[in-house]
Amino acid sequence: MGNAFDMVDLIRTKRDGGRLGDAEIDWLIDAYTAGRVGDEQMAALAMAIVLRGLDAAELSTWTRAMIDSGERMDFSGLRRPVVDKHSTGGVGDMVTLPLAPIVAACGAAVPQLSGRGLGHTGGTLDKLESIPGWRADLAPEELLRLLDEVGAVICSPGPGLAPADKKLYALRDVTGTVESIPLIASSIMSKKIAEGTPALVLDVKTGSGAFMREREQAVELARTMVGLGRAAGVATVAYVTWMGTPLGRAAGNAVEVAQAVEVLSGGGPSDVVELTLTLAREMLTLAGIDADPAEALRSGRALQVWRAMIRGQGGDPDAPLPQARHQRVIEAPRDGVLTRLDALAVGVAAWRLGAGRARKEDPVQAAAGVRWHAGVGEPVSAGQPLFTLLTDTPERFDRAEQALAGGWQIGDEAVPEQPLVLERID
Ligand code: URA
Repeated sequence: MGNAFDMVDLIRTKRDGGRLGDAEIDWLIDAYTAGRVGDEQMAALAMAIVLRGLDAAELSTWTRAMIDSGERMDFSGLRRPVVDKHSTGGVGDMVTLPLAPIVAACGAAVPQLSGRGLGHTGGTLDKLESIPGWRADLAPEELLRLLDEVGAVICSPGPGLAPADKKLYALRDVTGTVESIPLIASSIMSKKIAEGTPALVLDVKTGSGAFMREREQAVELARTMVGLGRAAGVATVAYVTWMGTPLGRAAGNAVEVAQAVEVLSGGGPSDVVELTLTLAREMLTLAGIDADPAEALRSGRALQVWRAMIRGQGGDPDAPLPQARHQRVIEAPRDGVLTRLDALAVGVAAWRLGAGRARKEDPVQAAAGVRWHAGVGEPVSAGQPLFTLLTDTPERFDRAEQALAGGWQIGDEAVPEQPLVLERID
């Protein structure tokens, strides 16, 4: 493709605060995807971008080059309006699992091309793989058929979708270069734009368990992604939501699937229900569908779609989920109110128990994770179970308990309620 550039020059340019031209970006993304630029050079450039950033024009070219590294999907033949959602990831964030069937039950097609967990945040595919028989890989024809017939699919993106991002994300993960607004925005939006969804709702997390700890950074990431989406003709709305505290009552894989089924059965933790319905309403509005997602839950229609969705991907929705071989309970040391529960501490504990992976090729334990038995602001009494740690490998308990220590607090007085939905950006 076009002129060849010297990658060392491009790295130096960015390192010294210069800007990269369109032809340079097109060349380097193409050369990296094809293996003509090595990981060590791309890692150096990624670090320079973490430190120096990309301006709006560089970012737009970078994102387009990542999209052009692969193929685009086409949902225009479907009979239902298509709408998708993406979360930047958090602890206990299993919202995709009930959300996709709820929105599908209201008449939309929801193609959730999802990822696996890295570090302390869980991955949707890892969670679903705890269901016996369920598979993440679908051929393109299967994906389209299930979207048409069932309305919701949660699967891995095929190898042809933004391959530059696949390589680059794995590299960033092991080189300390994930935390960069332009790199995250282009990574997420290149996949969503290549996927071909005409409408997209983003859930950008902020707080200790999120990539963007600070709210201002989360808002900037949200604005950047909304801008990229709009520029590509995708109707995009973002929510900035709180991830200083983990969502729901469980972090792990099978434990989060069990919680999703509770929500779809009309119960489940109130924060998960609130966030799921907020995102569902926005998705339906963008899809031009006038329907009440709470009614889809109440009537049991969303649960029916979940069952069809799991079956459609080889899973048995009635099969018992794997249970951990070992558990350790941490009890409340005194009476009081749970005043703090830190998302990062819980996420790292679940990860150390085996729910997450340290390297991308590591396996995860389906049954490992953490359950917490009180939410922030709730009363607790001395001796009651506060946490249950779950794993198949009990030598992990101590390190997990160390991760949790200092991540929670019992006080005497109630704390002001922390709103879950902080901002809506369109
Ligand atoms: N999720 C992605 O897909 N890419 C990032 O860079 C961060 C989160």
